[in-house]
Amino acid sequence: MDFRFDIIAEYGPFLLKGTLLTIGLSLAGILLGTVLGLAIGLGKMLNNKLLALPFKWYITFFRGTPLFVQILLVHFGVVPFFTGETNGIAAAIIALSLNAAAYIAEIFRGGIQSIDRGQMEAARSLGMNHVQAMRHVILPQAFKRMIPPFGNEFIVLIKESSLAAVVAAPEIMYWGRAMSSQYYRVWEPYLTVAVIYLILTLTLSFLLNILERRLTTE
Ligand code: ARG
Repeated sequence: MDFRFDIIAEYGPFLLKGTLLTIGLSLAGILLGTVLGLAIGLGKMLNNKLLALPFKWYITFFRGTPLFVQILLVHFGVVPFFTGETNGIAAAIIALSLNAAAYIAEIFRGGIQSIDRGQMEAARSLGMNHVQAMRHVILPQAFKRMIPPFGNEFIVLIKESSLAAVVAAPEIMYWGRAMSSQYYRVWEPYLTVAVIYLILTLTLSFLLNILERRLTTE
């Protein structure tokens, strides 16, 4: 079987640009998703059941429907509704962030609720109020436990951003598909794409390991 390295080389510059966009999409997704996710996680933990309800629905919707569908809804519905035209990159960032927020909200809630209630009681008995106890006792412990699932979410986002190819955001997968349809080839484009994603995710898990070791040995 011939393996056409020449067409990989030809698409090299595009794949490189695509890689930068993939990194950008997942970074934007994790950052915006974290901000929104913290708010939603807090909302879901409200003592007032009625107030917590919309946050629960949010999580139910975004975890319970495919990201693929969410990207299409945002691309053909939400973005044109506000701007009058479609925009693949904007749609991908919005859909990825909204989706990640649902998962991050649960990571956040899980982290906080995994801390033994005795910690809160002990802090309160030392005279701290609820906010002080949260800030100085609960959250520092909870954040450490959130790092592994949070890193996992980041890795998931890198891979899931490949769905943005269907709304023509020119990330890695977009160029892989372009290469495939120009030359009617399968192995060259998709193996190349797979290798690039692997390099990205391996690098990220390496960095996350370092971060985790730093934060847990103190
Ligand atoms: N492929 C799944 C979906 O389409 C995963 C969604 C993203 N997952 C995540 N942890 N952000 O629904």
